[in-house]
Amino acid sequence: MPTEPDSRPHGPHASDPTVATAARVYDYMLGGTHNYPVDRAAGAQTLRSFPLATLVARYNREFLQRAVRFLTGAGVRQFLDLGSGIPTAGNVHEIAQADAPGSRVVYVDYEEDAVAFGREILAGDADTRVLHADLREPDAVLDSPEVSGLLDFGKPVAVLMVSVLHFVTDDAEALEVVRRYTSRLVPGSYFALSHLAPPENSDRSLALQRETNKVYNSSVAENLAIRSRAQVREFFGDAELVPPGLVLLPDWRPEDPSYLPDDEDASRQMGVAGVGRIV
Ligand SMILES: C[S@@+](CC[C@H](N)C(=O)[O-])C[C@H]1O[C@@H](n2cnc3c(N)ncnc32)[C@H](O)[C@@H]1O
Repeated sequence: MPTEPDSRPHGPHASDPTVATAARVYDYMLGGTHNYPVDRAAGAQTLRSFPLATLVARYNREFLQRAVRFLTGAGVRQFLDLGSGIPTAGNVHEIAQADAPGSRVVYVDYEEDAVAFGREILAGDADTRVLHADLREPDAVLDSPEVSGLLDFGKPVAVLMVSVLHFVTDDAEALEVVRRYTSRLVPGSYFALSHLAPPENSDRSLALQRETNKVYNSSVAENLAIRSRAQVREFFGDAELVPPGLVLLPDWRPEDPSYLPDDEDASRQMGVAGVGRIV
């Protein structure tokens, strides 16, 4: 599948309130307040092309939260959240530490505002760090004092790449980046991922996704890449997919006993998610 060239140079970025960013547009979609007029304009433009984008963002965020609850239930006490975004209610550390006090979390984002808001919220939490870095530079991330000083890679760690790999638009680079992180994990570690991936058997939803991407890519600093579900599956490599496997976002271990998959819900079809166990 053709992908767009990366629009952003590698490395952590300084805040520029005149350019919309993925972090702030996502915050806007989730109803957050850490965004500028330029982000709201880009978000509104995206919503005109795909009005259900806010629901996709919510489904994604809820997957992240269920995945963290699953992981603490599986005994994981260390989390590396890559492309963590602007902290909003129900962050990884809040869920992990509520379920398993003492859980350690390192948040990583290359967007200065996301990092600044994160540091503000987390000041005084000795078990949590925020790293301003580009996840496409795995060695710099893994060897940073924030990560190596808090997380012990001799024990299980959960690496989270939730709604972020579609911003690494080069397919080979995205696979290599994931491999570089997962190759540092001991057995019993986990890798959780969600990714935009419209259904391949529906021309309508592919066209819709392409149109939405065009709008998004023309107004936001990052470009989004569309990937097939088979391509997303490849990110898991040899990891063992936790049941129910790689599935639509809201279908991954729903906690609401009354949840019923709705095939008419176009937002539900737009992204997939899964958790892999390193064996
Ligand atoms: C859509 S948000 C997802 C936030 C969070 N993971 C979630 O799912 O709720 C994507 C985040 O990834 C960050 N991001 C994108 N590319 C990145 C990169 N190369 N390195 C670090 N962060 C990146 C953006 O700044 C943004 O905050």
